[in-house]
Amino acid sequence: MSTYDFDEVIERFGTGSEKYDLCNEMFGTTNVIPMWVADMDFRTPDFIVNAVTHRMEDPIFGYTLREEAFFTAVANWMARRHGWKIEEEWVTFSPGVVSALSISILALTKPGDKIVVQPPVYSPFYAAVEGNDRTLIKNPLIIKAGRYHMDLDHLKSVIDDQTRMIMISNPHNPGGTVWTPEELKALGDICIEHDLLLISDEIHSDLVNFGLVHTPAASISPELARRTVTCVSSSKTFNAAGLATSGVIIPDETFRTLYNKRLSAIHVGFGNIFGNPALVAAYNQGEAWLEELKAYIGKNLDYAMDLFTSRIPEIKVMKPEASYLLWLDCRGLGLNQEELRTFMVKEAGLGLNDGASYGEEGAGFMRINLACPFSVVEKAMAQLEEAVKRRRP
Ligand SMILES: Cc1ncc(COP(=O)(O)O)c(C=O)c1O
Repeated sequence: MSTYDFDEVIERFGTGSEKYDLCNEMFGTTNVIPMWVADMDFRTPDFIVNAVTHRMEDPIFGYTLREEAFFTAVANWMARRHGWKIEEEWVTFSPGVVSALSISILALTKPGDKIVVQPPVYSPFYAAVEGNDRTLIKNPLIIKAGRYHMDLDHLKSVIDDQTRMIMISNPHNPGGTVWTPEELKALGDICIEHDLLLISDEIHSDLVNFGLVHTPAASISPELARRTVTCVSSSKTFNAAGLATSGVIIPDETFRTLYNKRLSAIHVGFGNIFGNPALVAAYNQGEAWLEELKAYIGKNLDYAMDLFTSRIPEIKVMKPEASYLLWLDCRGLGLNQEELRTFMVKEAGLGLNDGASYGEEGAGFMRINLACPFSVVEKAMAQLEEAVKRRRP
């Protein structure tokens, strides 16, 4: 029996929601079902709302220390949910995972250093490297049997003595790939051999599907942990991105000190007084909600995947091992990228992420967000099916 109502359709237009209120700017119309930005159309759970409300009742919103419970909650969550035992003192803060990527780059590398990313990948990875005046090196993922794989031979070929860091999305966005312990060990061995730091963005790690298991990269070995920065976020898992509060786990004391120095230099380490109790509530009280959410999302994913296979074979779906995002290989539609974008907006009435925004390796793909009520998934899939049908000879 379910306790939470994920079927509820909540009006988000006019609420300042990026996913909704930027539709005009993104797609030139509001006449689309917005299924792009990766937040969920479900109510933020009651235990988070209660924690924020409770803090609001305190009449002073002054400078406030981050309570010890924050560090404990992150450490306990990592142990309980991901089988990775960490010390509380390894945990530090960032207002968001993307800012943690930038802070790590600023703290742990120098201008001009080479940083490797694996495209197609979440586009702020590029900005974090190039926007901070580091040199971007691409190690494209390869598709084998409908799943992304790391090309480690290519990786070895692009590493030189200016290469300092590799940044991965673990699990992978947009492909939904849950990297296996073997894959992470092989990558980690290269980091160790070439003295590279590893930034592991694990924001999607709580939403792993089909009974698969997420492996924190740093849990592979103490040797790899020493050179890894792990970024996690209850705000993604519990639909509270607006609270801008993330955990950053840095086992090595020297690297952690450098990170914290940069965090205080930019003066964003304070965070906000609502995000801290929200993270504590999420990690301490959120497991039952999370299990229900995963079951609900699982049904949405199954429904859409079946429908693509049986009724829209022109679009191939990469199995979403993690997350609520489906990576759609639309190359079978025979459209160029511009035509594909126009097709999705004008013919299917869907506001999706353009695959090419994840790097040129994503051309021919689109990303759809299925963290919404089932009725919305049904409607979106019906619109897409009709639009594809109209194109058939
Ligand atoms: C891989 C990845 N990293 C980071 C983020 C965003 O993190 P934050 O909002 O905490 O900066 C996202 C959001 O979709 C993501 O997919």
